[in-house]
Amino acid sequence: MAEGRFDNPVVASLAGFYDRFRKQPLKPRFKATDNLEGKTVFITGANSGLGFAISVEAAKRGAHVIMGCRRQIPEAGEKVKKLSGSENVEMCYIDLTKIETIHQVVDQFAEEHIRLDVTFLNAASAASKSRPTESGQDELFLVNYFSNFILTNLLLSRGVIQPDAEVQSRIIFISSDSHRGSSAVDYNEFGRYFDYGVFKAMSNYSYFKFVLNTYATELSRRVNRDKTVVQINCICPGPVNTNIIRETPLLIRIILRGIFSIIFRSPKQAVQPVIYMATSGDFNNRTNQYLHMFIPKRMDEKVYDEAEGKKLWEESEKLWKRIDKKAEVFTK
Ligand SMILES: NC(=O)c1ccc[n+]([C@@H]2O[C@H](COP(=O)([O-])OP(=O)(O)OC[C@H]3O[C@@H](n4cnc5c(N)ncnc54)[C@H](OP(=O)(O)O)[C@@H]3O)[C@@H](O)[C@H]2O)c1
Repeated sequence: MAEGRFDNPVVASLAGFYDRFRKQPLKPRFKATDNLEGKTVFITGANSGLGFAISVEAAKRGAHVIMGCRRQIPEAGEKVKKLSGSENVEMCYIDLTKIETIHQVVDQFAEEHIRLDVTFLNAASAASKSRPTESGQDELFLVNYFSNFILTNLLLSRGVIQPDAEVQSRIIFISSDSHRGSSAVDYNEFGRYFDYGVFKAMSNYSYFKFVLNTYATELSRRVNRDKTVVQINCICPGPVNTNIIRETPLLIRIILRGIFSIIFRSPKQAVQPVIYMATSGDFNNRTNQYLHMFIPKRMDEKVYDEAEGKKLWEESEKLWKRIDKKAEVFTK
């Protein structure tokens, strides 16, 4: 059975509490002047929390910002324009439970000859129970892992992200340090829908971050065979006071809201290491890096297992081809 590190939101929040006060060695290297002038950035889950903060900060730093959202179009974009003072912000509809919408977004980018310099895979679901999607998978599986596999493969195979050692565009997976200690990828459950409740949902959240990191590592291996042509990195923003707990059972949510608002960082603070990873020259000619806030770390050792990465890729490819006739796996 697939297992994540936490199946209890209170324990997860206490881990966040511990993280909140950790010393972050790279923090002083983050410069207010690091900018994204002339760059095009795409953010999934951009209407809320960290994704919204990334959008504002990227727009302030001169980027052409494309906010991928399933709700709050155009209100969230208007807010980003207002807060950043930039008009160079647009929005597109994407619902990661609906594979067709991923195709629509990538088709549109390809038709408009958009080249992404930075892609933030930020959207995530913290659903409190299993929920079937149109294509027959579970929502958490699709939103927190598999749609990211599809989206990144399409962006690369359609040339929206172009591997180039000079330019080095960046793909940043917003992950979580809670991926640690998860079980190995479980292929009995992989892509299969079955009913479960709140504890398994909580455990799945950290488990799918583990799967996501394993995928990011394998993607980096395949794209960057002998040199870095796309910087493909993962980051945990640390504990952030966002809407992520909106589906937690009411009583626990009331307690967590208190903890979140008093102790957790605001999205505006938490976004800093994410923007550092998107802008800093410290990542040039490097890939498959992991930051926990501003703390460089190795991910869970299982994430780096090459045989596991290869198997995850192959099983994902098989599943994609089975459920989507427009599957287009990236090959270099
Ligand atoms: N908050 C924390 O303490 C914390 C800690 C570590 C890592 N993270 C990670 O940070 C990232 C951002 O989370 P957050 O804390 O900012 O939470 P959030 O405010 O709940 O934002 C999550 C975003 O994902 C979007 N999303 C969910 N399901 C989607 C779907 N089917 N299709 C498209 N978009 C979808 C949401 O859109 P809707 O508004 O439409 O639902 C929302 O914009 C996540 O990857 C999360 O795992 C958060």
